[in-house]
Amino acid sequence: MSAIKSVAVAGATGNLGPSIVTQLVEAGFTVTTLTRLDSKSAPPSGTKAIPVDYTSVASLTAALQGQDAVVSALSPAVADQIPLIDAAIAAGVKRFLPSEFGCDTLNANAAKLPVFGRKVQVHDYLAEKAKDGKVTYTLMMTGAFLDWALGTTLIVDLKGGVTSVYDGGDRESSMTTLPDIGRAVVGVLKHPKETENRAVYTQSASVTQNRVLAIANKVAGKKYETKPASTVEVEKDAHERVKKGDMSAMYDFLRRALWGEGFGSSKDRSELDNDLVGVKELTEKQLEELIAKYA
Ligand SMILES: NC(=O)c1ccc[n+]([C@@H]2O[C@H](COP(=O)([O-])OP(=O)(O)OC[C@H]3O[C@@H](n4cnc5c(N)ncnc54)[C@H](OP(=O)(O)O)[C@@H]3O)[C@@H](O)[C@H]2O)c1
Repeated sequence: MSAIKSVAVAGATGNLGPSIVTQLVEAGFTVTTLTRLDSKSAPPSGTKAIPVDYTSVASLTAALQGQDAVVSALSPAVADQIPLIDAAIAAGVKRFLPSEFGCDTLNANAAKLPVFGRKVQVHDYLAEKAKDGKVTYTLMMTGAFLDWALGTTLIVDLKGGVTSVYDGGDRESSMTTLPDIGRAVVGVLKHPKETENRAVYTQSASVTQNRVLAIANKVAGKKYETKPASTVEVEKDAHERVKKGDMSAMYDFLRRALWGEGFGSSKDRSELDNDLVGVKELTEKQLEELIAKYA
């Protein structure tokens, strides 16, 4: 495959997109961003923004002319990335990175969790198209966004609430920071052959809830409150709530995937693509400094 030079980023204005755009621009790629016709967000500077209708293959195909790669960082609220894939194929795009960026949805247990249903559907579709030689793809398996997650309750509640510590709190989970995800995307696009039609795994750090709690207690000079919890129970409860139409339960399926046993959240270093895509693990001191920003 010839070198990738022009990249379109869909969903460039959300939690993740700006970090990807920043690293792509810094690495010298020509970056175009796609944005909804009625988007209220300002497009990232240094890029050309094209308004699109994500349900229209014709609108998307016109926007993707001349692009070598598409990186989708679209919101989980987007019902369907299939028109974007079809448009990429119609426009002759060589590499498609769907909006994965999280837990290992190739893990059979994770794939069954309702929160990942659309992601599985999308990567199955891409695999089928790649088999027919229509496009190539890479799935970015980053684990939780480490920095972003420290500002939520997914790891520890550093805002002062009571943290639910799952299954004893010592299970490891591979996580990647937003800047490192941007670097990993650059690394993939610079190594198209080595990353073709497969998942790429990264981690900035492997953490446990107890390790983050211990660091947070140390750097904040106080003891964060905790209570024991079970990932089996949290999943059971989430299924019940979804049956009743409570979609806020989706967040709890993430807790099951991040901290439950058998969901592929912890990667052995031998499984990681850090070296290939240019992601360096944080030192203990860097991890402490990162946690201190949120504690
Ligand atoms: N691993 C983790 O910890 C973690 C955490 C968060 C997210 N993620 C994953 O990362 C990916 C990106 O998530 P994100 O949180 O960055 O997304 P987000 O902030 O919710 O949305 C990203 C962008 O998608 C565009 N968009 C298109 N249709 C939309 C719609 N119907 N509703 C809302 N936005 C829409 C918007 O850009 P325009 O306004 O410019 O059109 C928006 O800024 C997803 O795959 C998500 O599952 C992973």
